[in-house]
Amino acid sequence: MMSDRLELRPVTEADLDAFDLAFQSESGATRHQWFGFTPTVALREALRTRGLLAGADNMLAVTVGGELAGRVEWLERRWGRRDTSLCWEIAIGLLPESRGRGIGTSAQRELVRYLFTHTRVERVQATTDPENKAEIRCLEKIGFQLEGVVRRAQWRGGRWHDQLLYSILRDEFDPQPASSPDGSA
Ligand SMILES: CC(C)(COP(=O)(O)OP(=O)(O)OC[C@H]1O[C@@H](n2cnc3c(N)ncnc32)[C@H](O)[C@@H]1OP(=O)(O)O)[C@@H](O)C(=O)NCCC(=O)NCCS
Repeated sequence: MMSDRLELRPVTEADLDAFDLAFQSESGATRHQWFGFTPTVALREALRTRGLLAGADNMLAVTVGGELAGRVEWLERRWGRRDTSLCWEIAIGLLPESRGRGIGTSAQRELVRYLFTHTRVERVQATTDPENKAEIRCLEKIGFQLEGVVRRAQWRGGRWHDQLLYSILRDEFDPQPASSPDGSA
């Protein structure tokens, strides 16, 4: 029997095809993430040249029991000079059929663990819509703290939306055992 173990792994061209299919519509992207049709040629170029890793914008595929479940990203953010004040902002997009099973929490926890293990940053941040209750719950379960409201930050769906800014610091992160969607080790 195949395990339900959640893993992060480098993205493939076939994954990008699956993401295009899943996220290029409002129902697939969800109203919190639908910005209209978005070209993905730059992602494909970044995959060819650097595997979508080791850059200012990076991506790993999320798999559960070896099946593609979605993707996580981490993007460079600077609060001062790059060499001293860089942090990562994380983002996630699960395929519609993978939502609501605890994968979002486990995948973002794994990504934070990965970033604190393999990079020297002191903080990992995330932003989300105040109405995106599932994402807010995921972040809070991992230990992210609310830092504030970025007012009218995002134009989407014909109007401005506030964004919540969350962060977790290196010494606040409880890595816990490697996780699976149902929370078991
Ligand atoms: C947001 C997203 C990552 C959440 O991941 P998920 O696997 O669906 O969420 P989970 O199953 O881990 O659930 C997380 C928590 O949110 C809760 N939750 C889910 N929907 C909720 C809602 N509408 N209201 C309140 N709580 C909700 C769940 O009950 C769970 O809490 P619990 O463990 O205390 O019961 C995922 O749904 C997704 O990819 N959505 C589309 C893209 C997106 O919104 N990305 C984030 C952008 S910032």
